[in-house]
Amino acid sequence: MDPVTNPYAPGAGSQPPELAGRDEIIEKTRTTLARAQIGRTSKSFMLVGLRGVGKTVLLNKVEEIANSRGYVASFVETPETKTLPQLLIPSLRRILFRLDTQERVTEAVKRGLMTLRSFANTVKVSIGDVEVGLNIAPQKGVADSGDLDTDMSDLFEAVGQAAKARGLAIAIVIDELQYIKEKEFSSLIMAIHRISQKQLPLILIGAGLPQLVGLAGKAKSYAERLFDYPVVDALSPNDAVIALREPARREGVEFMEDALKLVAKMTKGYPYFLQEWGYHSWNVARSSPITAADVHTASDIAIASLDKSFFRVRFDRVTPREKDYMFAMANLGAEPHRSGDIAAELGVTVESVAPIRSSLIKKGMIFSPAHGDTAFTVPMFADYLNRVSSGTAS
Ligand SMILES: Nc1ncnc2c1ncn2[C@@H]1O[C@H](COP(=O)(O)OP(=O)(O)O)[C@@H](O)[C@H]1O
Ligand SMILES: [Mg+2]
Repeated sequence: MDPVTNPYAPGAGSQPPELAGRDEIIEKTRTTLARAQIGRTSKSFMLVGLRGVGKTVLLNKVEEIANSRGYVASFVETPETKTLPQLLIPSLRRILFRLDTQERVTEAVKRGLMTLRSFANTVKVSIGDVEVGLNIAPQKGVADSGDLDTDMSDLFEAVGQAAKARGLAIAIVIDELQYIKEKEFSSLIMAIHRISQKQLPLILIGAGLPQLVGLAGKAKSYAERLFDYPVVDALSPNDAVIALREPARREGVEFMEDALKLVAKMTKGYPYFLQEWGYHSWNVARSSPITAADVHTASDIAIASLDKSFFRVRFDRVTPREKDYMFAMANLGAEPHRSGDIAAELGVTVESVAPIRSSLIKKGMIFSPAHGDTAFTVPMFADYLNRVSSGTAS
């Protein structure tokens, strides 16, 4: 097929040609946002799932829905390298300025800006050239205690009050939440708690790897009740077929039934892999319909492409000892393993490798699906590692 019209979109955060199997989460987003807008209690939520299942794509959708509903929405940069205040200050400043550009400045918006000024002074973050409201003085006694918990709650409350005074609602969207430091996460959770107690129209919608749920609970035990944690998983075989078939069909191209089934099986319905297989099957096929033989040929190319990007970028971020730990896991097989079994595979004690395991969890490489178990956050990562050890990885 013509590579120019290839509809598939493998890549982190790439908008898929067909957003399959996510109706429930989209509906939940609509309801959550609509409720907050009319002043009803509405739970913030965090999407959790492995790498490549489509969390970032869903957050983009959330932002789009929020904007179309008249929300003031802000997609916060990912917290991997910066602190939470560093990320929130420019984001909340943008939000307040947008509240401000409506016909007249209300006291509440001004107070919001003054509170932001005082928060920024207190956390002493350089926020670049544009000051938080150039001519604005800090709000004395608010968000300036030096205690991040109190100050962040004060700040969120002031921003929430500003939105309420405007009759608007705010959506704050944050990706890769598992990277937030515990102290900052705890402050963020407290701030959302304050917002929810005061019934202010501000919703936090986040996403992260499965360890996120435990991290939130560890930061604040009530986080479990404060948020919902919808799971973003691989697509069902049916939805995988839709994700694959519909974009081709719109270009006047068909897949043979067995070719569709083969892709669904080979990819196990993981969205990233579906895009990769779809993309290469399209390029390999000479004409419509795309056959199972085309898919087989494409499969090698798809795996090579994943090895060089999706898998490789993760692998390159760990130390040699961390790699050994992961190789031991992969050796035992793709399913989750007990810490004891992994240590035994390495010929060491569980205690001696506990720091390595923690570090891999922090780096977002592995997580604990159940107490004492360890699994990869990247689907099919064990197969990749086995290709690396046997020298067959691209
Ligand atoms: N519902 C879906 N149906 C089909 N493809 C999807 C879907 N969601 C995401 N994708 C594709 O999966 C890939 C990974 O999406 P991304 O949002 O980056 O995942 P994550 O943030 O969970 O790692 C992208 O290529 C995207 O186009
Ligand atoms: Mg993502």
